[in-house]
Amino acid sequence: MMHKTQSGPFQHCLVVFILLLFSGIIFYIYYKPTVSWAPCPEITVSTHDVCMDACFDIFKTENLIQNINNSCSINYTLVKQQISNKQFDDTEEKNRKLHQYDTIILIWVWPFGQSFDVGSCGALFGITGCYLTADRSFYDKAHGVMFHLRDIYGDLPNLQKMPRPPQQKWVWMNMESPDNVARLRAPDLFNLTSNYRQDSDVWVPYGQILGASEEDKVFQIPEKNKLACWIVSNWNNNFKRVKYFNELSRHIKIEAYGRYFGRYVSDENYPGIVSSCKFYLSFENSIHKDYITEKLFNPMKLGTVPVVLGPSRENYEEFVPKDSFIHVDDFKTPEELAEHLKRLDQNQEMYEQYFNWRKNFVAKPSYFGLEHACRICDHVKRNKGYRVFKNLDKWYWG
Ligand SMILES: *[C@@H]1O[C@H](CO)[C@@H](O)[C@H](O)[C@H]1NC(C)=O
Ligand SMILES: *[C@@H]1O[C@H](CO)[C@@H](O)[C@H](O)[C@H]1NC(C)=O
Ligand SMILES: *[C@@H]1O[C@H](CO)[C@@H](O)[C@H](O)[C@H]1NC(C)=O
Repeated sequence: MMHKTQSGPFQHCLVVFILLLFSGIIFYIYYKPTVSWAPCPEITVSTHDVCMDACFDIFKTENLIQNINNSCSINYTLVKQQISNKQFDDTEEKNRKLHQYDTIILIWVWPFGQSFDVGSCGALFGITGCYLTADRSFYDKAHGVMFHLRDIYGDLPNLQKMPRPPQQKWVWMNMESPDNVARLRAPDLFNLTSNYRQDSDVWVPYGQILGASEEDKVFQIPEKNKLACWIVSNWNNNFKRVKYFNELSRHIKIEAYGRYFGRYVSDENYPGIVSSCKFYLSFENSIHKDYITEKLFNPMKLGTVPVVLGPSRENYEEFVPKDSFIHVDDFKTPEELAEHLKRLDQNQEMYEQYFNWRKNFVAKPSYFGLEHACRICDHVKRNKGYRVFKNLDKWYWG
């Protein structure tokens, strides 16, 4: 009797303790994808590969990134293991998991052959209930199918004959400008479009300016030891940007990188180089409305003032604050632009004005492929009605 009355409160404590322990474990399992217990210092952003940023975030969530000598690196052995494990996931297991999801999106081919973690729509975009898969055995069940334009030209005859479930939406996904990708010549194949253009059904710009968290607001302009920089992978003498660069570089020193200049920049070195320049030439390879790429959003994220060549200033101002960048059209000639950059180089206070926006905002490049699939899922979930996208070639290529 004595024993029983004494152990009463103790048992209560034990029960409470066990409950706490379990909820702690569940909390950890649940939130693991977004929480990084030992955060890596800086995430690498790639020059030519828009997927890279996304990959890094994904790999980090999978604990595939290692902190070696205080810098991030990916363990590719582990990455390969993860990817092959995913592909051989057995179907029964998938069917069981499927019950948690209300919308299935089939990724017809991995964009540019790059796979990505398909479990992040909730953690990254707050879009829940999505099951993304590249396993075509889900075709009949899929609510939407994402087709990356670059990867389907050879597949067209097959696609045109394929029977479709009545409510399934086919989504044309493409981030290349019309100058960089050929006409499709397959009329009325798709129900929806996903593109950088604001008038596409599932709009995914190359990047966004988001509200800053308290943590983001503690920002310092990185140390600078170069005036203006440019990294170019695709050199073509007929491009407007090449002509402009040739003229501009006669009046101001530009640190030029990239294969053409015999100065290849690795993904690892990219952030360090860009952030050490006062100005970065965010010159687009072709000029189209809304075609404002990671060439703008990466330098903005890394603390460098972009000098843009692309669509009109007005168009840029739809995406980023008007005092956050310099537009080549603001000047009559490249020489006048060079004079302006030299003036800013001599006047720190004037230079710092270009970072005023950073007090309230941050720049976030988009997640290539994954973000499209998640936003397509969200769109398909909300819009179950009939829709056909006619004259796609005319809309995109004119
Ligand atoms: C880490 O730093 C040490 C000492 O500086 C060096 O010997 C080692 O090679 C570095 N390791 C890697 C993986 O870079
Ligand atoms: C990467 O992960 C594998 C598997 O856990 C491990 O054996 C290997 O040592 C790791 N590689 C490096 C460079 O740490
Ligand atoms: C999608 O487009 C195709 C081709 O035009 C059409 O046959 C199909 O009925 C459409 N489906 C939906 C759900 O709108």
